[in-house]
Amino acid sequence: MRLMQPLRLGELELANRVVMAPMTRNRAQPDGVPGDVMVDYYAQRASAGLIVAEGTWPSATGQAYCRQPGIATTAQIAGWRRVTDAVHAGGGRIVLQVMHGGRIGSRHIKPAGVETVAPSAVRAAGEVFTDAAGMQPYDEPRALTTDEVRAVVREHGQAASNARAAGFDGVELHGTSGYLPMQFLSSGTNHRADAYGGPAAQRARFVFECLAAMAEAIGAGRVGLRLNPGNTYNDTSDEDSAATHAELMRQAATLGLAYLHVMRAPMPAIDAFALARAHFGARLIVNDGFDGASAEQALVSGQGDAVSFARHFIGNPDLVRRLREGLPLARFDRKALYTPGAKGYSDYPPFAGAAAAG
Ligand SMILES: Cc1cc2nc3c(=O)[nH]c(=O)nc-3n(C[C@H](O)[C@H](O)[C@H](O)COP(=O)(O)O)c2cc1C
Repeated sequence: MRLMQPLRLGELELANRVVMAPMTRNRAQPDGVPGDVMVDYYAQRASAGLIVAEGTWPSATGQAYCRQPGIATTAQIAGWRRVTDAVHAGGGRIVLQVMHGGRIGSRHIKPAGVETVAPSAVRAAGEVFTDAAGMQPYDEPRALTTDEVRAVVREHGQAASNARAAGFDGVELHGTSGYLPMQFLSSGTNHRADAYGGPAAQRARFVFECLAAMAEAIGAGRVGLRLNPGNTYNDTSDEDSAATHAELMRQAATLGLAYLHVMRAPMPAIDAFALARAHFGARLIVNDGFDGASAEQALVSGQGDAVSFARHFIGNPDLVRRLREGLPLARFDRKALYTPGAKGYSDYPPFAGAAAAG
């Protein structure tokens, strides 16, 4: 099986090509520090060739969700260190997804006085769950000044350094789903008149500079990028998402990154995998609702070099073994996706005969 073959992505040595995709699960402590259940959950999944740990904020302004972990404070770094030690003890590799929410934020989630910022003052349609006050509309964001944009870029370099201090093998920049990098990329959310706005080549500048800052901090071979051309999640719109992403992919390809992690949205007009091959090149992790058979086919046909799985990893901590041996896959409890505690998170057992199969 191609899925089980080792792979080198920059400085990252994967024992197999089954990647655990990042999943926000809201299990950190209220101060963004990973605790015991997160140590258990990630350690249980260490047989993945690479774990991409959930979207994690580089600074308090970047927090999007309740109980979302951060990588900004000493306590957060120490908490993550326990996670990475446990994954490494299990023979795994783990990178951290750095996620700045930008306008996807609420003052009911962040500490008092922490603002919600964005490329432009364009509020996202929709609501977000808050522990403090239930469902709330997104904040009206304040547009960052040019100097402040540069400071946020530096925060990304610092987040990469912090991730290494926490024992991560590398970082992945979250460039999808309408969070800050995609807000800069997309014409619907970026109305800036400075060098970070305007044509696609300039709207890509923020993402490129974040990647460059991360690469300078920890080496390009430990930095990945996640993209999803055509994604309209979180009220995102762009005049020509395929062309914008092609431009960014070409810019990113000059940096010598570890990989591009590309999601294919249900957008028949954009073949995101072909776009990534054409404009980024080698070292692609592909993601699109794969199962074992379709993942193997994606590798054999050359669409990707590794495949990431998100939802199958929720109920199958031993997904790699199940795929290798053709064992049945367990289902997961949707109601427990974002609830605190071990239930529906770190209590899914490994395969143990017919009784464990869903
Ligand atoms: C509960 C949940 C949380 C997610 N959180 C993130 C995240 O933090 N960062 C991200 O890039 N994608 C996130 N995603 C998207 C997944 O990484 C993945 O792209 C998507 O689920 C499709 O893959 P799958 O069909 O294998 O589940 C999340 C998905 C789920 C189901």
